[in-house]
Amino acid sequence: MHSLLALSKLALFLLSTLDSAAVAVGSATPLEVTPRQANPFQTTVITEFAEPWSMAFLPDNRILVTEKVGSLRLVDPSTKAKGTITGVPPVRYAGQGGLGDVVLHPQFAENNLLYFSYAESGADSTGGAVVARATLVLDNSGGGALENVEVLWRQTPKAPGNNHFSHRIGFTGSNSTMFISSGERELFYPAQDLSTNLGKIIRLNDDGSIPAGNPFASMGGVAAEVWAYGNRNILGFDFDSQGRLWEAEMGPQGGDELNLIELSLNYGYPIVSEGNHYNGTSIPNHSTHPEFTPPKVSWTPVISPSSMIVYKGDLFPEWTGNVIISSLGALGLVRVEISGESALEVQRISMGKRMRCVRQASDGALWTLEDGNGGRLLKLTPN
Ligand SMILES: *[C@@H]1O[C@H](CO)[C@@H](O)[C@H](O)[C@H]1NC(C)=O
Ligand SMILES: *[C@@H]1O[C@H](CO)[C@@H](O)[C@H](O)[C@H]1NC(C)=O
Ligand SMILES: *[C@@H]1O[C@H](CO)[C@@H](O)[C@H](O)[C@H]1NC(C)=O
Repeated sequence: MHSLLALSKLALFLLSTLDSAAVAVGSATPLEVTPRQANPFQTTVITEFAEPWSMAFLPDNRILVTEKVGSLRLVDPSTKAKGTITGVPPVRYAGQGGLGDVVLHPQFAENNLLYFSYAESGADSTGGAVVARATLVLDNSGGGALENVEVLWRQTPKAPGNNHFSHRIGFTGSNSTMFISSGERELFYPAQDLSTNLGKIIRLNDDGSIPAGNPFASMGGVAAEVWAYGNRNILGFDFDSQGRLWEAEMGPQGGDELNLIELSLNYGYPIVSEGNHYNGTSIPNHSTHPEFTPPKVSWTPVISPSSMIVYKGDLFPEWTGNVIISSLGALGLVRVEISGESALEVQRISMGKRMRCVRQASDGALWTLEDGNGGRLLKLTPN
């Protein structure tokens, strides 16, 4: 049943992409949608970290890496030296929470503005994600400091527990509008409630103010921040070359998703899902509620997407425009081809480890972080 469904999906996808040169039709046998290949990379190990979570490249090719416990590190790949950036605010390090994403402002070369996310504590043992920005001041000894730290956004309300913060940050290439992924804090129903900003895709100006054009602006409150909603734990977050926002999120028991995010759409969680609740209660699938936007790809068994990019380099020429997902559960990378508004998994690359983060350097090389204590920073180039 599963392979029949996969076969018909593959056939539909191939039909819809017959004249697209990007589709590697020849390598896909009809019954295996995700051919497993020998690791196609030449791997260079740079160094290792304590529970690394995300990374960003500076214009000088050094790399900022966040460690969940609350450290921001700076690595020089040419010497493998590791420095520290001081001035990170106290983080709530527990469960999935801690220091999270790190992203440069699109005009970083002129303004040195760094954006980062973390979990912070509130009253009565509650917690919530925060997005802040700061000026990055580098010193001459391989480290630096954050100055003028300014919190721009907070999850509202704060909630008990330490899961599903999501807190990815992304800027559109074309302007300085900032998108944030806000997880539903493992509380399910806030994802449908526009009086909270949990389980939502948020859109703000680069100073945290609310830009014109948000679909629920007239409702006021946190609804004015919302761009789209009905999401769960959104850890993959990137724009394609047309400026479209794609996200990969962890589903409940089954039903991990790749979604194309569009203004005002409701993606249905937890009313619909391709997975079921962990307590055994089933959730109707998307086809039962056409008012909710279904994922472009869903995974059962799950892959546990931890991050993703849309590959825009040419070092791996067949992958240009593809989604590359770092996967905890599948111990590697998952490659998805996009054709118009359709998407299909085409390859799974085993790395033998839970992968926490994948990013692309300006020369097209892929860089990954392994999950957990001792997680290594790897540079991946063609074999
Ligand atoms: C970019 O900015 C323009 C207005 O300056 C806005 O209309 C557009 O929606 C923005 N793009 C995104 C993806 O936010
Ligand atoms: C399982 O969890 C969901 C989400 O909270 C809830 O709606 C449902 O009632 C729960 N089912 C049981 C049997 O506890
Ligand atoms: C979705 O749910 C409907 C109704 O229960 C069922 O007929 C259909 O097979 C389900 N689809 C998938 C992909 O599970």
